Amino acid sequence: MSPAPLIIIVLSSLLTCSLLGASATALHDHGDASTDFQALRCLKLHLSTSGFLPSWKIDGSLQNFCTWSGVTCSKRHTSRVVALDLESLYLDGQMPPCIANLTLLTRIHLPNNQLWGPIPTELGQLNTLRYLNLSSNNLSGMIPSTPSSCSQLRVIDLASNSFSGEIPPNLSQCSNIQQLKLDHNRLSGGIPEGLGILRNLSVLHHAGNTLTGNIPLSLGTSSALHSVNLTDNSLTGPIPSLLANSSSLQFLVLTKNQLGGEIPSALFNSTSLKILSLGVNNFIGSIPAVFLNFDDSPLQHIVLASNNLAGAIPSTLGNFSSLRWLLLSQNNFQGSIPASIGKLRNLQLLDLSYNF
Ligand SMILES: *[C@@H]1O[C@H](CO)[C@@H](O)[C@H](O)[C@H]1NC(C)=O
Ligand SMILES: *[C@@H]1O[C@H](CO)[C@@H](O)[C@H](O)[C@H]1NC(C)=O
Ligand SMILES: *[C@@H]1O[C@H](CO)[C@@H](O)[C@H](O)[C@H]1NC(C)=O
Ligand SMILES: *[C@@H]1O[C@H](CO)[C@@H](O)[C@H](O)[C@H]1NC(C)=O
Ligand SMILES: *[C@@H]1O[C@H](CO)[C@@H](O)[C@H](O)[C@H]1NC(C)=O
Ligand SMILES: *[C@@H]1O[C@H](CO)[C@@H](O)[C@H](O)[C@H]1NC(C)=O
Ligand SMILES: *[C@@H]1O[C@H](CO)[C@@H](O)[C@H](O)[C@H]1NC(C)=O
Ligand SMILES: *[C@@H]1O[C@H](CO)[C@@H](O)[C@H](O)[C@H]1NC(C)=O
Ligand SMILES: *[C@@H]1O[C@H](CO)[C@@H](O)[C@H](O)[C@H]1NC(C)=O
Repeated sequence: MSPAPLIIIVLSSLLTCSLLGASATALHDHGDASTDFQALRCLKLHLSTSGFLPSWKIDGSLQNFCTWSGVTCSKRHTSRVVALDLESLYLDGQMPPCIANLTLLTRIHLPNNQLWGPIPTELGQLNTLRYLNLSSNNLSGMIPSTPSSCSQLRVIDLASNSFSGEIPPNLSQCSNIQQLKLDHNRLSGGIPEGLGILRNLSVLHHAGNTLTGNIPLSLGTSSALHSVNLTDNSLTGPIPSLLANSSSLQFLVLTKNQLGGEIPSALFNSTSLKILSLGVNNFIGSIPAVFLNFDDSPLQHIVLASNNLAGAIPSTLGNFSSLRWLLLSQNNFQGSIPASIGKLRNLQLLDLSYNF
């Protein structure tokens, strides 16, 4: 027998090994300890103009930067940076493109500093990035369109900055996103429909912007959806029934918008929903009388104040024994207050003012 088949086997197993090795790290990683050191040095010069980060000794030659505060290195790749944790350190300055030279970064946690200016587009080259938290800074400009390599991204928190423009529609290509927090910026335009179909979406918080248009019809697709807070925008249209039917949703906060239509009865029939805040909108119709066919409703807050709701307050609300807040003021509710409300042992706030 000729030895040829054996060689093929050896070669192919070598190939398998190197492929596995490559997929375990970054596919196009050209970095090494020295590029990481140069990048950290560049970061300190740009982000610490007032001289913070004292443990970062950037003078001289290559240092053991893995011991610097806020720097975490890889266990597998010696002297390669995988995480930056620099919260509340008075960092000031613009994020320099060299942050993208830390090519194995999986976590960027720089909240509550004084960073300003735009996010460098180079950040999109970090194809191992899973967590990005730049909340409570003064970053501005557009949120960069995501690169095609964002499949690792789980968490994006850009809340409390000065970002403007639209939410990039192709964020929805980052299929593993779990948390997307963009609250308190100056974002306008619609909420991209594609965000609704993110299969692992758990938290969608876009409160305090000037967003318009409808809530994505597909929101509620994710069976992990936990919290939706879109308060204080200019959204119109109804509450999508897929969202109302979600069996995982615990917080639905849509106050201060221009939403309308009837409130889906499924929201009062939910086995998961704890907070339902729909105040200051244009909802019409009445509160549905829902006979719970399960032991108890987890609903703690029902806030429907300042809408165009009418009809009687249903006595069935007396079965919602977890209820703490029932705020129904400034609507057109009629009739008497059901005696069953008196059964609500946890009730703390009851406001029925400004009705008929
Ligand atoms: C970052 O990488 C680019 C290109 O790979 C290189 O030109 C630049 O000098 C690097 N910057 C630092 C601070 O290492
Ligand atoms: C971002 O960091 C802030 C400050 O530590 C924290 O409160 C917030 O929960 C973080 N965001 C996410 C999505 O983890
Ligand atoms: C934030 O940045 C804007 C410009 O983008 C500037 O007008 C404003 O003063 C800054 N705010 C703070 C608190 O630094
Ligand atoms: C998002 O759009 C930008 C430009 O519009 C493009 O370069 C990028 O590849 C897109 N990303 C995805 C994930 O489709
Ligand atoms: C969502 O999460 C599950 C389990 O946590 C995981 O198996 C899956 O790959 C994730 N991503 C998508 C897009 O479903
Ligand atoms: C919703 O967002 C607003 C604005 O950020 C905040 O004040 C409120 O506490 C949030 N509500 C819930 C239930 O998360
Ligand atoms: C929501 O549930 C109701 C019944 O509870 C059903 O009639 C409706 O088709 C469901 N909607 C969606 C979009 O699944
Ligand atoms: C409440 O949900 C049950 C199924 O869990 C369904 O049979 C019933 O019709 C629903 N009621 C309303 C008012 O949506
Ligand atoms: C709910 O409330 C109504 C009216 O108060 C009552 O007739 C009904 O028996 C209660 N129980 C359930 C499980 O709906």
